[in-house]
Amino acid sequence: MAPILEVRNLTVEFDSGGGTVHAVNDVSYTLEEGQTLGIVGESGSGKSVHVLAMAGLVPQPPGRIVSGEVLYRGRDLLKMSEAERRSIRGREIGFVFQDPMTSLNPVLTVERQLVEALNRHMGLTGKAATRRAIELLEMVRIPDAARRIRNYPHQFSGGMRQRVMIAIGIACDPNLLIADEATTALDVTVQAEILELMQDLKRENNMTVIWITHDMGVVAGLADTIQVMYAGRVVERGPIDDVFASPRNAYTWGLLQSLPTDERRQMGRLYQIPGAPPDLRDPPPGDPFAPRNRFATDRCHTEMPPLRPVEGGAPGHMVAAWYDLPKLLADQNGAGA
Ligand SMILES: Nc1ncnc2c1ncn2[C@@H]1O[C@H](COP(=O)(O)OP(=O)(O)OP(=O)(O)O)[C@@H](O)[C@H]1O
Ligand SMILES: [Mg+2]
Repeated sequence: MAPILEVRNLTVEFDSGGGTVHAVNDVSYTLEEGQTLGIVGESGSGKSVHVLAMAGLVPQPPGRIVSGEVLYRGRDLLKMSEAERRSIRGREIGFVFQDPMTSLNPVLTVERQLVEALNRHMGLTGKAATRRAIELLEMVRIPDAARRIRNYPHQFSGGMRQRVMIAIGIACDPNLLIADEATTALDVTVQAEILELMQDLKRENNMTVIWITHDMGVVAGLADTIQVMYAGRVVERGPIDDVFASPRNAYTWGLLQSLPTDERRQMGRLYQIPGAPPDLRDPPPGDPFAPRNRFATDRCHTEMPPLRPVEGGAPGHMVAAWYDLPKLLADQNGAGA
């Protein structure tokens, strides 16, 4: 089956005071129908910008889509007219943006925004549309939905606003949902409920999902495939179980080491990746993670590793690294470090 989404060599830059910010660098990946892709990476790794590019919402200027294609069922989202894009957005691709102001219109009530989408994409009008809108708010656990629906976005708390955004994202049963930090401000119980709702929607509608989050735990619970981004690049990608069991990029390994397991908590040993992400106006030559990577070889400091299939790894497991991480870890453990 043809993939539902194909991102090819996407590169996005911003002009900023101090030079050009290389926000998204040659990002390529494909997404199969029904797949759930979790994208993780530190702040500033280009996660949101790459989603904004797909939605045609990179502010230009200062932004610039330097190159690339984003094929949704074979049609390039980057080359569509605004009208074509609007007809796809909502009905075929539901977006939940990280910035509420991108998802929500501050001068319209939540009811107006939901009803408008239901009307445009699903042909629902009048009472039927309102009924469905209330149902959607109930699905994302907004209490007193029939009353709250008449509120404006600013009348909701941050967490409630996030739920409204999710409701809008899933309102028209999209084939593909792209959610950027959609549950970050929610408390753990509500987050678990929303993630369960996502699982249900996936099952019922065979929805394909891209779920962007800082939280490796969320990725583990929801995604079948994980993609790790660093400095605007994909540095590792693969089936979730394989990547968790045997990460091949030192940055992925660091993220997994930082996960607060019970054992680590008890031992009082929570790992933190040393250093800070690079300045994207002047990224280091070679592998951008090299300066923070204790496993880095000389080559890492001078030459950019391409994303390639992991030797002897699970199908679909890809890594960008010059070193053999499992071997290095085994050596390290062997040396009793
Ligand atoms: N409008 C803009 N003008 C200039 N630079 C921008 C703009 N938007 C984003 N950037 C830069 O692009 C880079 C990638 O940002 P992006 O928002 O995609 O990161 P992110 O991975 O989503 O981070 P977070 O986890 O904090 O949401 C950052 O260096 C950011 O400063
Ligand atoms: Mg972001």
